[in-house]
Amino acid sequence: SDIVVLVLFPDHHENVVPGSTLQVTNHIVIITPLNNTKHLLVSAYMDQRVKDFDIRIIGIFRRDSIQPLHCFFCCTGYLSKTTPAAIFQHPDNFGFPFVTTDVMCQIPQNCNARRVTLLTTPDKESPSTDQWLPIRNKDTVGQKEENMQFDFTVCISNLFGDYNNVLQFAQTLEMYKLLGVNRVVIYNTSCGPELNRLLQSYSDEGFVEMVPWPIDKHLNPSRGWLHSKHGGDLHYYGQLTTLNECIYRSMERSRYVLLNDIDEIIMPYQHDDLMSLMSTLRNQHPNAGVFLIENHIFPKKHFEPSGRFHLPQWNGVPGINILEHIYREDPARNMYHPHKMIVRPRMVEGTSVHEVIKNFGECYKVPLDVCRIIHVRVALQGSLTLEHLNVDKRLWDFQEKLIPNVDKVLKRVGMLNLT
Ligand SMILES: *[C@@H]1O[C@H](CO)[C@@H](O)[C@H](O)[C@H]1NC(C)=O
Ligand SMILES: *[C@@H]1O[C@H](CO)[C@@H](O)[C@H](O)[C@H]1NC(C)=O
Repeated sequence: SDIVVLVLFPDHHENVVPGSTLQVTNHIVIITPLNNTKHLLVSAYMDQRVKDFDIRIIGIFRRDSIQPLHCFFCCTGYLSKTTPAAIFQHPDNFGFPFVTTDVMCQIPQNCNARRVTLLTTPDKESPSTDQWLPIRNKDTVGQKEENMQFDFTVCISNLFGDYNNVLQFAQTLEMYKLLGVNRVVIYNTSCGPELNRLLQSYSDEGFVEMVPWPIDKHLNPSRGWLHSKHGGDLHYYGQLTTLNECIYRSMERSRYVLLNDIDEIIMPYQHDDLMSLMSTLRNQHPNAGVFLIENHIFPKKHFEPSGRFHLPQWNGVPGINILEHIYREDPARNMYHPHKMIVRPRMVEGTSVHEVIKNFGECYKVPLDVCRIIHVRVALQGSLTLEHLNVDKRLWDFQEKLIPNVDKVLKRVGMLNLT
C-alpha cells in the first residue's frame, strides 16, 4: 500500500517538518544483486529526455556476462507485461570486469509505473520483493529550474578505507558553504573514527547527505583506477557509478552539480561565490551544460613561512590545514591534465570523472583566471622548488569567516583544542 511505500522510500518528503515520522531527507541506495545474473542494480530514475525510453536504471554489470534483459513494472494495481531493455555499458571501464551500466526501459501504455525491475526472460516471473526499485524523480520531473530546492550540490564520490583527514574536510565543507553550496552528497563505504563523527554532525544538520555504499559486501572493489596495475573487480570502489547516481539524484532538485573530490575546492577567482560566477558564465555561454575547471596542486610539503594560520585551537585535529599551503604548481601542460566539472545536471546523460560521456549542449573550458581548483595534496611534480611555484593566497580572502566557522563545527564535535 502507499503507506508502506512512504516508509520504505521516503524520498518524496524532503520538506516534511522536523519531528514528524517521515523526517528523512535522503533516499538511500540499496545495492541489489539481480536474480539469475552477475549484475548489481543501484537505482532507477524517470528520464524522458531522449525519445524511446522513460526510465534509466543505473547498475554495475559484469562485462563478460551481459545478456538480454526485460523491464518489468509494478503499475498502480497490477503488474505490467515486460518491455525490452536497452543496455548501455559506459566506455570507461579501465580494464575492470565490472562497469557502470545504464539500462533504458519504456513504460507500457496506460501503466502508472511505480517500481521497476529487470527479468532475464520476457515471461512474467514473480520477482521477490527485494528486486523492485522505486522509480525516483517521478513527481518532480519537468519542474522549472528556478523552483529547485538547491542552487549548488557537490557530489563527492566514494569514501573508503580509514580516511580521517578531518581538518581539511571541515575547512573544505565550510569553504563550500561560503561559496554558496547547499548540499554535499557523500557515498560512504567507510571512514576513520573522527571523520565519521564530523560527517554525522553535518548530516544531522542537513548540509551533508550520507549515502551508504556497501559495495565491498558485493564485490572486491579496487583502491586504484587501472585494473592491470591495481587489480580488483571495480574501479575505485565504484566512483563512476556513484558520480552518475549523484547527477540523477540531483537532477530535479539542484540547478548545478559540482563533480570534484573530497580534497578539492572549485574556487572562483573573480567572483565572491559560485552563483555570481555561474551567472556570468551562463550569460556568456547560454548553451553550455558542462563547465570544465582546471585542477591545480598545492603541495602539502611547502608551508607558508609566517605560520599565521598555524592556529593553536587546531592542534591535535587530524589532517591537513589548507590555509598553510599557498604554493601552487603550474600544471605540466605537456602531460594529460585533468579537469573537474560544474554541470547542469539535466544536460548530462552520463559522466566520467574528468569529462562527460554523453550530454546535450556545449562544454566550456573556464579560463584559469576566472576559476580553478585548489587541491592541497602530495606534490604532483615533487622536484619543483619554491622559486618554481606560484604564491596563491586566494583562500585567505575568506579567512575572516572561514576560521570561526571551522572552530564552531570542531567545537560541536568536541575536537577543538581549548587548552
Ligand atoms: C530470486 O531470488 C530470491 C532470493 O533472493 C529467491 O527466493 C527467488 O527464488 C529467486 N527467483 C528466481 C526466479 O530465481
Ligand atoms: C559510514 O559507513 C560506515 C560503515 O558502514 C558506518 O559505520 C558509518 O556510520 C557511516 N558514517 C556515516 C556518517 O554515515
